[in-house]
Amino acid sequence: MRIYLDNAATTPLDPEVFEAMKPFMLEDFGNPSSTHAHGRKVRAAIESARKNIAELLHCTPGEIIFTSGGTEADNAILSGGLHAYNIKHVISSPIEHHAVEHTLGTMAKKSVISLSMVNLEKDGNVDYTHLEKLLKEHPGSLVSLMHANNEIGNLLDIERVGELCETYKAYFHSDTVQTVGHYVHDLSKIKIHGMVAAAHKFHGPKGAGFMFIRKDKKIQPFVHGGAQERNMRGGTENVYGIIGLAKALEIAYRDMKEHTRHIESLKKRMIEKLRENIPGVDFHGASADLTRSLYSVLNVCLPESDENDMVLFNLDLQGISASGGSACSSGATTGSHVLGALYPGSKKGAVRFSFSKYNTVEEVDYAVAKLAELYKITA
Ligand SMILES: Cc1ncc(COP(=O)(O)O)c(C=O)c1O
Repeated sequence: MRIYLDNAATTPLDPEVFEAMKPFMLEDFGNPSSTHAHGRKVRAAIESARKNIAELLHCTPGEIIFTSGGTEADNAILSGGLHAYNIKHVISSPIEHHAVEHTLGTMAKKSVISLSMVNLEKDGNVDYTHLEKLLKEHPGSLVSLMHANNEIGNLLDIERVGELCETYKAYFHSDTVQTVGHYVHDLSKIKIHGMVAAAHKFHGPKGAGFMFIRKDKKIQPFVHGGAQERNMRGGTENVYGIIGLAKALEIAYRDMKEHTRHIESLKKRMIEKLRENIPGVDFHGASADLTRSLYSVLNVCLPESDENDMVLFNLDLQGISASGGSACSSGATTGSHVLGALYPGSKKGAVRFSFSKYNTVEEVDYAVAKLAELYKITA
């Protein structure tokens, strides 16, 4: 038995998505920049993908720029936005994904920007009063706060932050990698200037994503080269990736209600079963609060035990793939900067389970049973 419960790291490709991509791997191979028939056919497919994505997000096609995924899109918006508007001050948080944290950290080290960190509440939620204080002190900043944390699942009140940014004339970027394809984003309503997506988080292909950049807040290009993506991102397009991305988003929106209900019920069941079976179990961040966290992520806080260092290894031996924090940095099982910032010096164990539409009740029960077995040995 092999069970995959690491869907915040990546999700399996939906076969329907693969079918949509296939023709662009074989017969429709033209370069979309070519003006002949082979190229024009592929260009039309890319523009249709862009239009479909824009319709789902309630923005214009020109505001969608395809990238290689979330990391590139975050880098592009942060460096391009700061450059275009000559912004020298950034407000962010210590629990951002490394795509944001390291980008800003590097710029701060080079003194390109000064950086303020917003206070977090005990469970990792943003202290909005402190955010407003920082915005008041530094009007015209760039604010970069993630919509949902990939390790603990905490959700940001993105509408509220958008309003605050408008009041204090800040450029608002949000790393929305964990929420695009899982929640509805209505960009005609949210006051955001830049956001990002990665197809592989919602059953699309790896290496394909996009950034949304509001049309009145254009940025400088990050990847220079040809005139692709309206001069905003050089390089021949990842054609089948883009086709797969658009198809995956279409399916995600089509089936969102049903899949949300299913995944949420798996998370709920796991919380209940863990409480029943592991004495002293708790949950990191707001991940056990279904109203304030991603419905797909549960970060389990395990009692102090000799088992903690080996828990992921032992789960793996039992056929269960899960993660200890952010699996985005090549399977790292220790040293989560998110848990480190929220629980300094903690000796408790951490396992992040993250679910998708393909997971079942049986898989959840099996994972809980195996985890309980491990903790009985030393508890
Ligand atoms: C919140 C968040 N931001 C950015 C990324 C990076 O995206 P990508 O893997 O497409 O570069 C990830 C995951 O990998 C993520 O979870």
